[in-house]
Amino acid sequence: MDNRLKVGVLGGTGYVGQRFVTLLENHPFFNLTVIAASSRSAGKTYGEAVRNRWKLNIPMPDSVKDFQVKDVNDINEISKDVDFVFCALKMPKEDIKVLEDRYARAEIPVISNNSAHRKTPDVPMVVPEINSDHLKIIDVQKKRLGTKYGFVAVKPNCSIQSYVPPLSALLDFEPEKVLVSTFQAISGAGKTFKDWPEIEDNVVPFISGEEEKSEQEPLKIWGRFAGDHIVNATEPTISTQCIRVPVSDGHLATVSVSFKHKPTREQILERWASYSGKPQELNLPSAPKHFLKYMTEEDRPQTHLDRDYERGMGITIGRLREDPIFDYKFVCLSHNTLRGAAGGAVLTAELLKEEGYLVPVPEEAKEAHLQAGK
Ligand SMILES: NC(=O)c1ccc[n+]([C@@H]2O[C@H](COP(=O)([O-])OP(=O)(O)OC[C@H]3O[C@@H](n4cnc5c(N)ncnc54)[C@H](OP(=O)(O)O)[C@@H]3O)[C@@H](O)[C@H]2O)c1
Repeated sequence: MDNRLKVGVLGGTGYVGQRFVTLLENHPFFNLTVIAASSRSAGKTYGEAVRNRWKLNIPMPDSVKDFQVKDVNDINEISKDVDFVFCALKMPKEDIKVLEDRYARAEIPVISNNSAHRKTPDVPMVVPEINSDHLKIIDVQKKRLGTKYGFVAVKPNCSIQSYVPPLSALLDFEPEKVLVSTFQAISGAGKTFKDWPEIEDNVVPFISGEEEKSEQEPLKIWGRFAGDHIVNATEPTISTQCIRVPVSDGHLATVSVSFKHKPTREQILERWASYSGKPQELNLPSAPKHFLKYMTEEDRPQTHLDRDYERGMGITIGRLREDPIFDYKFVCLSHNTLRGAAGGAVLTAELLKEEGYLVPVPEEAKEAHLQAGK
């Protein structure tokens, strides 16, 4: 008997959705049972629905080619076959919020890549190594929703995953000011070079909404769990510029930082080398063994060479130097569709399962919801 939790992917036909589908092939905790998308794809087999738009450089798993794609709005139908869902939909924020809440109220937990619920005070926004303690807010959220099993948890924006982990390792030196420029891959916009030929030989100095998210979201992650809500951190002040560059995958960032208590170079390198969290402690299947890796070569990390470090789940850092305006500067890199999207969400789900928030949802709980017509 298969004791794994049954999982669905909403938006499984898109770029991030395709990552989910490949990461869930033979997953030890989760069994992919449903792929859902828009009414344009619903009713087709997965193979047909994505035939001309498979975007990954690894093949589509044979096991999903004959799945019949469902419509994400068929919640009653989908809920029969899943214990939770990942959300990788690209739709207007308000519509996503409503849809994610409907799943949660139907007792189906949602782990989302979308930004719709990131500011909702009782929705945890998690990088599992950094703020796993925020998951406790789910109990408060369930009270608001009136659910026993259903809730929404989100992962933060892909742009922040390169620089928030190295800064998290240094929080007790109290970073005061952080200046960041991100150099972001085109897959972050759901595109390949085939879809977006104008990006070749080009740099675009604007990504809609990205700078606000890059400056604000770290403050929720570094926030304090205060019983019934998360109190956002008030420091450091972060200033970002987010730039689209012609690379397929991998978001690189340059960071300058000043601290209240300036660490030595050795202290910084030691913190990075030893930084780990709950995923490493629990030896979760998607956890990188070493979350942060400092590279000593003067021209690393490089996007093409280093984005796949630890199966795309680790962060590479390099070029730590004194800064003439701030205290230090460095460069860091993360894989945007793995650590920054589907991989980060799968790791979050693994942690939620180990912490008891994801469990098999009994049929009676789903039935009760259907009968209440919620
Ligand atoms: N790409 C990244 O690196 C990255 C990183 C972090 C977060 N994210 C977030 O992840 C989400 C997905 O991004 P993506 O790049 O994978 O987008 P994408 O390739 O455009 O895929 C969008 C998905 O949403 C579905 N969809 C679109 N409109 C819909 C509607 N009206 N009703 C139901 N389904 C609908 C599509 O279904 P059809 O195929 O049927 O149209 C498709 O499955 C976005 O919220 C994005 O901001 C992306």
